[in-house]
Amino acid sequence: MEIIVRENAEIASKQAGKYIANKIRHANDIVLGLATGGTPVKMYNELVRQHKEEGLSFAKVSSFNLDEYIGLTGDHDQSYRYFMNDNLFNHVDIDKSKTRVPNGMAEDIPTECAAYEEDMKNAGGVALQVLGLGTDGHIGFNEPGSSLASRTRIKTLTKQTCEDNARFFNSIAEVPIHCITMGIGTIMEAEEIVLLAFGEGKADVIKEMVEGAISAECPATILQMHPNVKIFIDDAAAAKLTHLEYHKYVYNNKPAWQQF
Ligand code: GLP
Repeated sequence: MEIIVRENAEIASKQAGKYIANKIRHANDIVLGLATGGTPVKMYNELVRQHKEEGLSFAKVSSFNLDEYIGLTGDHDQSYRYFMNDNLFNHVDIDKSKTRVPNGMAEDIPTECAAYEEDMKNAGGVALQVLGLGTDGHIGFNEPGSSLASRTRIKTLTKQTCEDNARFFNSIAEVPIHCITMGIGTIMEAEEIVLLAFGEGKADVIKEMVEGAISAECPATILQMHPNVKIFIDDAAAAKLTHLEYHKYVYNNKPAWQQF
């Protein structure tokens, strides 16, 4: 795990955006795994800025999103399809037919999930997966207790996640309790992972993810087993890390060829 601690969410998001933009620039075509939530918005803003001001093209990008609420149509303003269109796809030159978000309105959920996995496989797998982090340690919507080998499937959201996400809805009663999410096993197959987490509300879970024992109790701890993960966090989210000074020292002393 490479821990990149920056002063605030703006600076960390911009840097993560630049990193991802360079990956897009240097690939002939690239399959991205994309995340929603409040955290990645500023990173998407940076990608859009680079498209508008620096010629970053998404013409050869295809994407698979991590998750979607069951029961929300793509034009519902809290669906993750709507979020992706609104925060990224509508503002860049991506071919929307190459962007996939699980269909939360599918009549046959297991068939939808199996097809999603199959499509990912046929696309050659995810090259770079963006992740946020739930306060309960979820990645995607893989709540505590999720199998660390799980594949795309239905999940039931915890009360804590419903409460966290209620801020985007008119009331907690409107938050769907079911979702489709890539599994932890699915996420772990990405060649590279970029996780973002900001604010003091994420400090405990960041400490657990980086320093805790690997356990389904905190699904994000499985990322300790992935060979290529970058964690972009701000000072507030990093505050409880035991080896914070070491992580900063490593970052400040990267050999030139490793810098980005
Ligand atoms: C959401 C999403 C996750 C996201 C996480 C954190 O519910 N399903 O993909 O990473 O919870 O959300 P936020 O970035 O708003 O804190």
